[in-house]
Amino acid sequence: MMMENKATQLARRRYNRIAPVYDLMEVLMERRHQSWRKLLWSKVEGKKILEVGVGTGKNITFYPGNIEITAIDFSEKMLGRAREKAKRLETRVDLQQMDVQDLRFDDNTFDTVVATFVFCSVPDPVKGLTEIMRVCKPGGKVLLLEHVLSANGILAFFMNLANPLVAGLMGPNINRKTVENVVKSGLTIEKVTDLSVGIFKLIEARVQK
Ligand SMILES: C[S@@+](CC[C@H](N)C(=O)[O-])C[C@H]1O[C@@H](n2cnc3c(N)ncnc32)[C@H](O)[C@@H]1O
Repeated sequence: MMMENKATQLARRRYNRIAPVYDLMEVLMERRHQSWRKLLWSKVEGKKILEVGVGTGKNITFYPGNIEITAIDFSEKMLGRAREKAKRLETRVDLQQMDVQDLRFDDNTFDTVVATFVFCSVPDPVKGLTEIMRVCKPGGKVLLLEHVLSANGILAFFMNLANPLVAGLMGPNINRKTVENVVKSGLTIEKVTDLSVGIFKLIEARVQK
């Protein structure tokens, strides 16, 4: 197992800290996110699915019935909330504490890998995406729901300016170039759907190896 670096320790600590209030903090935004989550889960292919960065388990309600799902998160506190939610909803999911930058799964294990609002926080996003590519089967699908840096120069300036404060207080970076990071990781992008204001994107990619 890889030694956890300082950036990863810090990011994990931030999520452990906000885990008890995370759902409350997100309550207004979550109303809008629900239809996006539904759209993403309608695109899942195959039976063996990995959810990365499960958080408090907001996607659990959207898991299709006929899949075998494994979900990971590096924050034990967020994972604890997901565990409670899975129990409450009587949903079978294999929850494991793991860092997406260092996955303990064999190559070519999953048919689809899903992550929602995760690559804004992963310290080395390209490394995480490369790991996803490794554990996903050839021809497998990767579905990401993410907020990214705006292409509008003025908005991007303010997003870059506010980023240290937002990341320090809450965890996510609001200036990530996740579409570009997906390309850098070697995944093949099939479709990017702009869900809102050029910032919220559904990214559909394919593993070709
Ligand atoms: C903004 S929250 C989103 C949670 C959930 N996916 C959702 O849609 O509500 C980001 C989640 O990613 C997790 N995360 C961030 N970096 C990670 C990493 N390197 N490995 C595993 N999980 C990570 C955090 O612990 C947190 O639970």
